Amino acid sequence: MADVKLSGVHKYYGNVHAVRGIDLTIADGEFAVLVGPSGCGKSTLLRTIAGLEDPDGGAITIGGAVVNDLRPRERNIAMVFQNYALYPYLTVSENIAFGLRARKTPEIEIRKRVSEAAEMLGIGNFLQRYPRQLSGGQRQRVAIGRAIVRKADLFLFDEPLSNLDAQLRDEMRTEIKRLHHEITTTMIYVTHDQVEAMTLADRIVLLRDGKIEQQGAPLELFEQPRTGFVAGFLGSPSINLIPATLKTNGPEAAVVFQSGGELTLPSAKARPLASMDGRDILVGIRPQHFSRAGGPLRDGVVSYSATADLIQPTGTRTFTTIRIGGVDAVAELQAHDVSSHGERIDLAIDLNRVVLIDPASGLVIA
Ligand SMILES: Nc1ncnc2c1ncn2[C@@H]1O[C@H](COP(=O)(O)OP(=O)(O)OP(=O)(O)O)[C@@H](O)[C@H]1O
Ligand SMILES: [Mg+2]
Repeated sequence: MADVKLSGVHKYYGNVHAVRGIDLTIADGEFAVLVGPSGCGKSTLLRTIAGLEDPDGGAITIGGAVVNDLRPRERNIAMVFQNYALYPYLTVSENIAFGLRARKTPEIEIRKRVSEAAEMLGIGNFLQRYPRQLSGGQRQRVAIGRAIVRKADLFLFDEPLSNLDAQLRDEMRTEIKRLHHEITTTMIYVTHDQVEAMTLADRIVLLRDGKIEQQGAPLELFEQPRTGFVAGFLGSPSINLIPATLKTNGPEAAVVFQSGGELTLPSAKARPLASMDGRDILVGIRPQHFSRAGGPLRDGVVSYSATADLIQPTGTRTFTTIRIGGVDAVAELQAHDVSSHGERIDLAIDLNRVVLIDPASGLVIA
């Protein structure tokens, strides 16, 4: 068990500044997910914690001790990579035991730990098989088993599920979450998949261009993004961003779309905007905040009439493309709310949850 502390960590590859001054504390037992677009420095940061890369500045502390000068195998870390090569000529059992044998663990202890890990991961029946005789998900479990038998202080995962099909990914995601509940070891998990990040993390650390853009509990980031980048990165389908101009009148405010039409903002949203009349703004409306209108509207909910363009049923919900403010937006409706292209639909938009972004700075202002 260990907490992890990074202070002022930098990493350059030649003149690529891959990690740009990261300060981050991960509590003992926490499940932290590093997420962000391709190339933002996730793997570099993880590899730096593991000791596979030397930082060009800053300190890395694991369990209270600075580890900058320790080699990877002196850090008591277990790591699972995307390309978790299993040894093809060793059985599942031998693959899981490999690291323990290399460390000269007594044979009786190896057998105990392998069978515990196999039990936990549901691969107890496959111990004598070879990797080629396993499905992708079973192989992935073996790779995780190989890591957990180590009883490391810290687990690092770098996109461990990205080679699996969608259903297996969902299953393994649940397994990893359950595993963390059982062994409660600190975990740092890298993914570029925002769903994986949201569902697994105690805390999401969203990286952008080598820096932390925002960190916090999944729903905190989702509901209170500090920047348009965070609002846009989390959520599927993505938040709709609609260009508009602010129109204020005392404590009241509305957004006026460049294509005509306006929406009056609820007073809590309007309040911080009092001095911003005429400012350009991006109006962020999540697909989930549209619904089919019906009955009286709650405070802060406005009606909007639209024409359904593309219709994408998912089974439980139907994503419908509509025009608003001169741009295409996606509304997430109930499965049967809309059935045909060109259909006229009366929608309600919950503006209590709208995110207003300053297009110049990218910051959320209300
Ligand atoms: N060995 C290397 N030599 C030179 N540049 C590198 C090296 N490894 C990574 N980079 C660069 O550093 C930056 C961060 O890379 P990194 O692999 O950490 O990104 P990532 O967030 O893990 O992306 P992905 O989601 O694609 O895996 C990128 O610009 C990348 O091109
Ligand atoms: Mg990577």
